[in-house]
Amino acid sequence: MRHRDPAWNPAAGSAGAGLPRVAWGKGLYVYDTAGRRYLDASGGPAVFCLGHGNDEVNAAITRQLERIAHGYRYSFTSDPLEELEQLIGAAAGPGFESMVFVSGGSEAVESALKIALQYHTARGARARRRFIARRRSWHGNTLGALAVSDFAARRAPFEGALTEASFIPAVNAYRPPAGVAPEELARHGAAELEREILAQGAERVAAFIFEPVVGAAGGVVPAPAGYAALVREVCDRHGVLMIADEVMCGSGRCGSWRALAQEGVTPDLFAIAKGLGAGYLPLGAAVYHRRIAEVIDAADGGPLTGHTFTGHTAACAAGVAVQTIVRRERLVERVAAEGPRFMAALSAELADVEAVGDVRGRGFFVGIEFVAERATRRPFAPELGFAGRVGRAGVELGLLCYPVSGIVDGVEGDAILLAPPYNATAQELAEIVALTSRAIRRALAGRPAR
Ligand SMILES: Cc1ncc(COP(=O)(O)O)c(C=O)c1O
Repeated sequence: MRHRDPAWNPAAGSAGAGLPRVAWGKGLYVYDTAGRRYLDASGGPAVFCLGHGNDEVNAAITRQLERIAHGYRYSFTSDPLEELEQLIGAAAGPGFESMVFVSGGSEAVESALKIALQYHTARGARARRRFIARRRSWHGNTLGALAVSDFAARRAPFEGALTEASFIPAVNAYRPPAGVAPEELARHGAAELEREILAQGAERVAAFIFEPVVGAAGGVVPAPAGYAALVREVCDRHGVLMIADEVMCGSGRCGSWRALAQEGVTPDLFAIAKGLGAGYLPLGAAVYHRRIAEVIDAADGGPLTGHTFTGHTAACAAGVAVQTIVRRERLVERVAAEGPRFMAALSAELADVEAVGDVRGRGFFVGIEFVAERATRRPFAPELGFAGRVGRAGVELGLLCYPVSGIVDGVEGDAILLAPPYNATAQELAEIVALTSRAIRRALAGRPAR
């Protein structure tokens, strides 16, 4: 699939256009068929949390393929599937032993939405059909996940066919609503949710879905401290389920295995994908709490959602290998320890660049937001395609980052995402900082005067 949005595709629009042809990868580096080397600073879209070409993961997949690729779910269970359930259950914390395995993030979100609906139906609350989501959020490309996503460019061709959802304002400390003081932002955001639940009628609302740290749609936006706990209270007050979309920010990326764990908050359901299988095979999961499982198991015997490749045996074997390494090498703890140093190094390196408005994030999940004017936080004109320019400058220098645009209001606003592998060395992280700085400065130097 080719995307015309230059912020999505760092190579589009560059001299000669056309994407490089990938050949192989090892660790942080990817090589194309022309022999060029790229430092993969974003792990693609925050996926490759162990880097590329991990021998242990590849060997586990090969061993599984030599036995059988997949035992179809209506005929078999498998060791890899059950081992992965155990590993996720242990990492996610008490109550999370129920899950549906899928092939990616959109399917994971889609499954979480459906399980929430199934739960309400099973309880006799069939009127609870509506989802509430936030502005500037991304939950995926299937119709259900897209319907709860606020990403104008990605929704536009499908408007009119998307299930109606409610969108409440984004909660972004760098761009707070007018008149809301920073210390009030968490409470204000939670109050917006409660207002919308009451406006819709709580008896009609199935769930609130949000990214604990917004990824592509916001340019890595962590919610302010206390927000998730307040949201939990609002949801509980009104019988509304809380769905955490941790497809990008979860599986250890933010320095705790569940992103929300560091807030001390337990959602009813959460979606994971990207870092779960680290990109070695397509894998995702919708994980739901025992209190949800008990209701749907009693009514229906289990979740009424799934696909041909649900619990794909080789994909689960990849997931087991990845999660075993993450646990054995204490990589989530490493991300928690190194993340603040990485972000501080980026902030220091970019301090003199007027166009860098904000450097933010959690763990090894960092966003750099660009502005035309630091003092007023005015974004660049969208025609400039500044994020795409940084992406292309990076490619010219042998750096892969993830440019995103439209992060302020769906049209304006530019950022890049960085998401190094959890096992990146201090030297590799320093190289990312240096190359990112060069890419930004190069993009600025090549920017037409306005
Ligand atoms: C937060 C979030 N949810 C869902 C998705 C969809 O995942 P996928 O592209 O694997 O379908 C993404 C993808 O970027 C994401 O960032």
